[in-house]
Amino acid sequence: MPRDPRYDILFEPVKIGPVTTRNRFYQVPHCNGMGHVYPHGEARQRAIKAEGGWGVVSTQEVEIHPSSEWSPYIEGRLWDDGDMKNLQLMVDAVHHHGSLAAIEITHNGHASGNLYSRMPAMGVSAMMFDTYEPVQAYAMRKRDIANVRRWHRKAAVRARDIGFDIIYVYAAHDISLPFHFISRRRNQRTDEYGGSLENRVRFLRELLTDTKDAVGDQCAVALRFAVEEVDDAHELGGVHAHAEGREVVEMLAELPDLWDVNISDWSHDSISARFGEEGAQEKYIAFVKQVTGKPVVGVGRFTSPDAMVAQIKRGVLDLIGAARPSIADPFLPSKIENGQLDDIRECIGCNICVSGDMTVRPMRCTQNPTMGEEHRRDWHPEKIPTAVDDTAILIVGGGPAGLEAAMSLGRRGCRVTLAEAAAQLGGRVYHESKLPGLATWQRVVDYRLAQLQKLTQVQTFTHSELDAAQVLDFAKELNAAQIVIATGARWDRFGIGRAHRTPVPNDGSVQFITPDDIMSGEYPHADNIIVYDDDHYYMGGVIAEKLVVAGKRVTLVTPAADVSAWTHNTLEQNHIEHHLRKLGVGLIEKHKLDHVSAGRVALRHTSSDALRVLEADSVIMVTARRPCESLYLELDAAPDKMNEAGIRNLSRIGDCLAPATIAAAIYEGHRFAREFGNELAEDAVPFKREYVAV
Ligand SMILES: Cc1cc2nc3c(=O)[nH]c(=O)nc-3n(C[C@H](O)[C@H](O)[C@H](O)COP(=O)(O)O)c2cc1C
Ligand code: SF4
Repeated sequence: MPRDPRYDILFEPVKIGPVTTRNRFYQVPHCNGMGHVYPHGEARQRAIKAEGGWGVVSTQEVEIHPSSEWSPYIEGRLWDDGDMKNLQLMVDAVHHHGSLAAIEITHNGHASGNLYSRMPAMGVSAMMFDTYEPVQAYAMRKRDIANVRRWHRKAAVRARDIGFDIIYVYAAHDISLPFHFISRRRNQRTDEYGGSLENRVRFLRELLTDTKDAVGDQCAVALRFAVEEVDDAHELGGVHAHAEGREVVEMLAELPDLWDVNISDWSHDSISARFGEEGAQEKYIAFVKQVTGKPVVGVGRFTSPDAMVAQIKRGVLDLIGAARPSIADPFLPSKIENGQLDDIRECIGCNICVSGDMTVRPMRCTQNPTMGEEHRRDWHPEKIPTAVDDTAILIVGGGPAGLEAAMSLGRRGCRVTLAEAAAQLGGRVYHESKLPGLATWQRVVDYRLAQLQKLTQVQTFTHSELDAAQVLDFAKELNAAQIVIATGARWDRFGIGRAHRTPVPNDGSVQFITPDDIMSGEYPHADNIIVYDDDHYYMGGVIAEKLVVAGKRVTLVTPAADVSAWTHNTLEQNHIEHHLRKLGVGLIEKHKLDHVSAGRVALRHTSSDALRVLEADSVIMVTARRPCESLYLELDAAPDKMNEAGIRNLSRIGDCLAPATIAAAIYEGHRFAREFGNELAEDAVPFKREYVAV
């Protein structure tokens, strides 16, 4: 389809210093858990973004010297010439598709722990780490400043020699040295690098001038600058958009070739959809274009082409920056260009991508199961090989795993029938997206349903609960030789989870309820509720929110030290805890349920064993989930009947096999579809590995 002329403006070239990008789609720096450890994976993933139409494709943070390195976290590395070959792979691959390659070189000062290099950390001033690493940084002397300037310059020259088109100076997220120099919270210096703003900006100005001087004739020099530190109380001396944030932009207005502006810290910049809308940064960054004549790129989880056009027409941005939208859909620009708006796989703002970085593994994405698998499994987000096996397939269960399997098998040309017991498709995603703050999650279902409508060889049935005999009959009728069970999981009602491997003793005086009950509309019949969270992800918090908003008195109890502890990995924990406290949810950490008797719930402290008793009418058990596996087990135990019905294979996928995240269910559905008919040799490692050369 031709592109809608309304979106023409997005495809205009933009000049950035000595280089020109072919359009306004700009993949800003984001790590992907591959970096210097998996250079082929890194290169292939960035290449696919370029192929998908992103005019600029950036690296993640790239370390310039072992005195500031992020181990065990995996970023880019350009310490010396030995690192150039790895990055060359990416640059060549990005150029191959006609895009510009950008690199974010950085020294992170006291923010990175040097756990691998074991070099003492240095910072703008002597200070403790923000994490609980038992390490402190020493205050940089003049000769340290000169060293960092030299390393930065050398890295810029190496980057130019590799072929990068845009070279960053990075002063954002409160994790890079030039930002620490600017911030009064960090900079306690009394020399010409401390005190007045002019002095505090000196180091950043020097880095910009050095970089322009070294490579500015060939490469554009971009400045990534956080104009606002959202969490910082003003009296603490942070950077604010209406104060020193603006003044810095005014002071350096025409020095960089490109302003890449955002907000700090990372949990505000990459805010999840639960706590921030598309375009949420506009109120902070809107002033920048009024101050500089240089192009401006900004971010805001932009997935709507109309919102993008509005940003440009209203003079907020020149280039549409994106990290997560480009992860969820590397082909977002080309889909807008080809008028395929229905095919855009919109980011849901869940930050599972961030969790890959936080837990030191290649990135994954809820919406895009190919993310992180581009090289090692040779998965492409838009291409999937046609199946050679023309077996008809019956999938039972239309949650995320079943839907993804049906869609991807359908794209492979397979004849697929999907039977779902409920009145609608989507399974847990349909229900969870009705919980507070999770509405965007329905995009997981909507995208797949829109795709299924285009696949005439896939038929779906709702209101179709099948028992084993009916599955066999139906398979026979369809001539389906492959059955896939994707019947999901249900929350355990008895408190079985990590802290309890057996049911929590209850004399029956307190009602035990599950999140499934709440999601199906069954509310606790009384007002005094405990949400017991031994799951530690989002569910405990959103159920507590739902109930407190409905007027219940809610206490969230968790054996962990923090509420929703795993959400540190999605950058949400601080937001969740703040939000729950504001709503008036009582929080009790480091306690597990002990027993229930006579309407009282006894909690036991996880360290001291001390007992504490709460009055409660109901406990919502957010603990383990149990696979709905009875259908699978019954069929699996009846090979003769399956043979008789002509069924050659029975498989189960997603939560029905091993309950996990929605991302994992989508991934498993996708993997099943890719591997169908291409079963791997027994005992083979299922993906390519990147070996350390010896
Ligand atoms: C997984 C992930 C990794 C990121 N890594 C970096 C990084 O290395 N350097 C950086 O400047 N920003 C990084 N960011 C922040 C993004 O560049 C971007 O500013 C932020 O995600 C907001 O844009 P979005 O709403 O389009 O995702 C990262 C973001 C994500 C989601
Ligand atoms: S993991 Fe979630 S937030 Fe990250 S890109 Fe994918 S859908 Fe968006």
